[in-house]
Amino acid sequence: MPETPPAGKDNLRIREMTIDDFPEVFHIGEEVFTAESFQSLYRTWDEFEITTLFNSDTELCLVAEGGGRILGFALGTTVTKHNSPWKYGYLVWVGVRSDIQQGGVGSGLFKEIKHRMKEQGVRMMIIDTSADNLPAIKFFQKQGFGDIQEHVYMSLNLTRKSRKKSVKKP
Ligand SMILES: CC(C)(COP(=O)(O)OP(=O)(O)OC[C@H]1O[C@@H](n2cnc3c(N)ncnc32)[C@H](O)[C@@H]1OP(=O)(O)O)[C@@H](O)C(=O)NCCC(=O)NCCS
Repeated sequence: MPETPPAGKDNLRIREMTIDDFPEVFHIGEEVFTAESFQSLYRTWDEFEITTLFNSDTELCLVAEGGGRILGFALGTTVTKHNSPWKYGYLVWVGVRSDIQQGGVGSGLFKEIKHRMKEQGVRMMIIDTSADNLPAIKFFQKQGFGDIQEHVYMSLNLTRKSRKKSVKKP
């Protein structure tokens, strides 16, 4: 019986995601988008992320395949802004199985999604990630991203009773 070739750059295939890939993509995301690196609630990995992006822009939902399994994925979309003639390419999620990270899979996915976005008329790509996700920041810098802009998120817990200072009567 022929052996399944090991996953590696040489037998890496980047292709469009199909419905059959959803469970594997979802589980890889669960593995790599951990609470430590994705603490804000506005960036929550769940099955709707996959289906929504797949429905809106199938061409920008890619998987990397090798050795008979999905190794990683990149999910993106395009955005047009009011008052801007530019089309932006938003790479929303990119994830590679933990055991094969730093093996070139992420770069392969990025190259293909960038090419596809360019074909769609995108003039600028954007990404976002937690400020402390240094591996991802290094990865994006390696792909040419720069001009890091910081963004502040604040929260207000509505279940806590507010502690109003009592006003002393004269
Ligand atoms: C970010 C991620 C997609 C990169 O995929 P990858 O397959 O590991 O990346 P590559 O092997 O193609 O790395 C390309 C370059 O990125 C940089 N890089 C990647 N991982 C790195 C790490 N852990 N530490 C430092 N630099 C890193 C390096 O410069 C590397 O080039 P080199 O191999 O010549 O040194 C992957 O680490 C991942 O899934 N992380 C968890 C999910 C995540 O944070 N996603 C991004 C936000 S949505």
